[in-house]
Amino acid sequence: MRVGIDAIAIAVPHRYIALEDLARARGVDPAKYTHGLGGLEMAVAEPGEDTVALAAQAARRVLTGYDPQKLGLLVVGTETGVDHSKPVSSFVQGLLDLPQTLRVYDTQHACYGGTAALMAALDWIASGAADGRSALVICSDIARYGLHTPGEPTQGAGAVAMIISRDPDVLSIDVGISGTASIHVHDFWRPLGQREAQVDGHYSVQCYLDALGVAFAGWKQRASLRGIDSLARVCYHVPFCKMAKKAHAHLFGDVDYDAGAALHLNARIGNIYTGSLYLSLASLLSAQAAELVGSRIGMFSYGSGCTSEFFSGVVGPRAVERTADLADVLAHRERISVGEYERIMALTEPLPRNGGEVRFTGVVDQRRQYASS
Ligand code: CAA
Repeated sequence: MRVGIDAIAIAVPHRYIALEDLARARGVDPAKYTHGLGGLEMAVAEPGEDTVALAAQAARRVLTGYDPQKLGLLVVGTETGVDHSKPVSSFVQGLLDLPQTLRVYDTQHACYGGTAALMAALDWIASGAADGRSALVICSDIARYGLHTPGEPTQGAGAVAMIISRDPDVLSIDVGISGTASIHVHDFWRPLGQREAQVDGHYSVQCYLDALGVAFAGWKQRASLRGIDSLARVCYHVPFCKMAKKAHAHLFGDVDYDAGAALHLNARIGNIYTGSLYLSLASLLSAQAAELVGSRIGMFSYGSGCTSEFFSGVVGPRAVERTADLADVLAHRERISVGEYERIMALTEPLPRNGGEVRFTGVVDQRRQYASS
């Protein structure tokens, strides 16, 4: 049975800053951020653009023209949820008025959470438990480190929503051919109650590469047993764009990573944690789907802490039309100054309006409220 990604959509905050502006404000050579880390811009979310709002917007887009009665499962992967108990997926179900017959929950393991959701959906369909139904998988996060920290230029925010189904149009996943690696490390974490992540930056890069090596070896061993020995492209988890290039060099030596295609959205949005691997896939397909139809893509997902998975899939027959407009999400954003970014990062209450289709409006009687237009 062919199972995989049938449709994909993205939502991002309304505002962004240019990394060269941030570098100048921090007294850093802009080339460090644009070449050393590989980014150009970074999405800035105000409190009204929270994980739920972004998830709901991405989900609404991916469901356009789709009958929600065909869904049986909704899973959100996130590491920046809004409640210790009520999952983001529950808010999304209500905001989009999705069927009450859905199984609804969140998955968490740092940036791997979205892949955990994807794998749950694939297994659910491949096992036959779905009984012909499809799944809605959403990755949504606000990546925050803190002003003046080394991680500051690697923040971002956004959501990627995907419909997972049989006979998928975008990417048919090689179910059963994946390699995993998990090690208990303190490379990146966020203690309860803190908005900003803690990170041991250089150590986290090494943890990522170590996990990648083990996960890739597992994939390679299983793939070779099925006669699969090559990949046309590889997409990686992208905490910052240079990391994908380091990862590619780690696996394949000193070869040029085709960064323009697989990273153009990541370079302009920043790290979106759970969604960043799928943002890279969206980048690649929105740029090169026509030449990649029928080709096998490698995918590496890394979640600090850590766990990781290397898997693969074959680009589907309708990937071109399904991904052509993904970059449009950048069209209506507003560039803001570093001063405005600093003001927004200090906010705890949502701005009155942010232009988003779905937005968090505040807490009433200890219940989070959302507006949808
Ligand atoms: N011009 C061009 N390049 C320059 C430069 C200049 N003027 N100055 C420095 N550079 C280069 C450096 O040579 C370096 O490149 P290489 O890594 O290829 O050698 C790069 O810019 C970065 O410089 P530093 O290492 O000195 O930067 P830093 O110490 O300030 O911080 C960082 C880098 C550790 C990645 C930091 O940004 C950070 O902590 N980021 C958050 C953690 C992170 O993203 N970790 C990734 C793995 S964990 C993960 O993937 C999960 C997740 O999503 C967080």
